[in-house]
Amino acid sequence: MKFFVDTADVGDVKKAKALGLADGVTTNPTLIQKSGQDFKKAIVEIARCIEGPVFTEVTREDTQGIVKEGKEFATWASNVVVKIPITQSGLEATRILESEKIGTALTLIFSPTQALLAAKAGASYICPFVGRLDDISSPGMDLIGQIVTIYSNFPEIQTEIIVASIRTTVHVLESALMGAHGVTIPFKLIEQLARHPLTDSGISRFLEDWKKVR
Ligand code: E4P
Repeated sequence: MKFFVDTADVGDVKKAKALGLADGVTTNPTLIQKSGQDFKKAIVEIARCIEGPVFTEVTREDTQGIVKEGKEFATWASNVVVKIPITQSGLEATRILESEKIGTALTLIFSPTQALLAAKAGASYICPFVGRLDDISSPGMDLIGQIVTIYSNFPEIQTEIIVASIRTTVHVLESALMGAHGVTIPFKLIEQLARHPLTDSGISRFLEDWKKVR
């Protein structure tokens, strides 16, 4: 399963890379704004740091505007993937960009039928949002189960499911159990995934016992 880092902070990307957990990076306008960095500078720096895709989100909403912005992003680095909110214009733009060999990731996916349309448009990736569904009392992981089933029913679908808006380690566990292609998570969740209280107490006990025999 692929681990993407959900950040616009190159420091976090480097830390995840050192752990072999930076198969890609996802950014969005909110993350860019939080990082306080210049948009293009941040993307170029991250794209230099990893070999995998760097999802870079468009802000135009009309088809031609999305295509124009996407083509511009694609000139910044060869591993930039154009991240596009799923709308009718977004689907049209996806078809155009993919036909020109520019990778796309359809984002803000909240229903299995949106995921089906994204696959039909030829998107390289989709980002279904689980946490924001949980936030409104709709089980986000049910969406992932349905998308995995639909995509498995039609083996010709090449679109990869990168589970997004992840809030907990259980979201990561369930994504792996369901067979999603990947997850995108903030670095602080990677730290949580690595830890277990029994590992910590086990290390302390071994070290205490070791002191007694030396
Ligand atoms: C990544 O592609 C998404 O933009 C991100 O995971 C959204 O997360 P949020 O719902 O915590 O803002």
